[in-house]
Amino acid sequence: MTGPSSRISGFHKQSLGERLDTVARFADLDADTVAHLRGLGQVDPHLIDHLIENAISAISIPIGIATNMKVDGRDVLVPMATEESSVVAAVCNSARQCYDTGGFVGSMSGALMIAQIQLVGLSDPFASRIKILERRDEIKAICDACDPILLQLGGGFRDVEVRVIDTLGGPMVITHLIVDTRDAMGANAVNTMAEKLAPEISAWTGGRVYLRILSNLADRRLARARATWTCEAIGGEAVRDGMISAYQFAAADPYRAATHNKGIMNGVSAVVLATGNDTRAVEAGAHAYAARDGHYGSLTRWEVTREGHLSGTIELPLAVGLIGGATKLHPTAKACLKLLGVHSAEELARIIAAVGLAQNFGALKALATTGIQKGHMALHAQNIAMMAGAVGAEIEQVARVLVAQGTVRVDRAAAELKRLRGK
Ligand code: MEV
Repeated sequence: MTGPSSRISGFHKQSLGERLDTVARFADLDADTVAHLRGLGQVDPHLIDHLIENAISAISIPIGIATNMKVDGRDVLVPMATEESSVVAAVCNSARQCYDTGGFVGSMSGALMIAQIQLVGLSDPFASRIKILERRDEIKAICDACDPILLQLGGGFRDVEVRVIDTLGGPMVITHLIVDTRDAMGANAVNTMAEKLAPEISAWTGGRVYLRILSNLADRRLARARATWTCEAIGGEAVRDGMISAYQFAAADPYRAATHNKGIMNGVSAVVLATGNDTRAVEAGAHAYAARDGHYGSLTRWEVTREGHLSGTIELPLAVGLIGGATKLHPTAKACLKLLGVHSAEELARIIAAVGLAQNFGALKALATTGIQKGHMALHAQNIAMMAGAVGAEIEQVARVLVAQGTVRVDRAAAELKRLRGK
């Protein structure tokens, strides 16, 4: 596959406006999209007022570009919305180090969402389960009638599963509707189906229905990515082994795994947010999936290949869409999707998984070697300099001094700024 290269030398040294020009050329963005991004994503107050209740304003979160990303043979510039320094830089560095070995390979288990219907008050839960399963054809017809457009697009009802679970309140019969939601995240589609079907389930069994809602543990919508980093690219066997050991720590210990996965979600959520998708849905799904065996562990796995290289893989539920919700309404989300050049929700999910893996690589490498503070502080120092009142070129000058002194504090920044201005 050919296309422009995501390896853009000196990108981080360009000004904000220059970077936008570079990105616009890369993705062939139209003038309106570029103008919107140049205006720092100013949004029509009417949109804000319609997205949520009681709106009064909006918050601006920076969007940074992850360069060097190659996913499934295509070079891609990935927009990441995050307030945390070092997150974007980590992905750029990690992706650069595996670019020559082909970048990332992504895959997806499908676009299947699950809706749950909770049925209680049954003396014969197992017979009720069978009664519901007998109605598969009716269930399919009711679900598919809810969303003819989804059907036209090749999606719709795929299966029904019924579980009897033990709860504090006795046995409950839980019906799972399994629905292919194609390029939609699918929450609305499956929730509508569950609500429509609920009275029928109640009538067929004599039980009482309470909840009718999707499950965020979207384990039929798993995104996967893998990549290989050569031993030379990462700086030798000691680094590789330190990273493997860091992974083994996370796999064994939930206290570490929570932080390890938080780092992964730094990347995942940043792209999910930039594209107007539901960060909380993806986060809930990821953490529930990390605990699927009853033990909370790592979303990634790190191994040594036969050749002695470092192999990384990630697997997590990724319920993201290209249509519905803010993805189609929010102009910044639309701009980010244009920039990504994705044509399906699956393609987006594969890129997000790759970013999560790159993020984890960056964190593990830093933690297993110099620690994260050195790199983090260099960027953090700029924020501290701004907090002390530095503007323009002063920010860089003050930050450099703070890092050199090894003390990144607002009082030091203020003192340095005073000295600089007094010159
Ligand atoms: C910080 O936001 C993320 C890390 O803590 C992740 C990790 O420890 O793996 C650096």
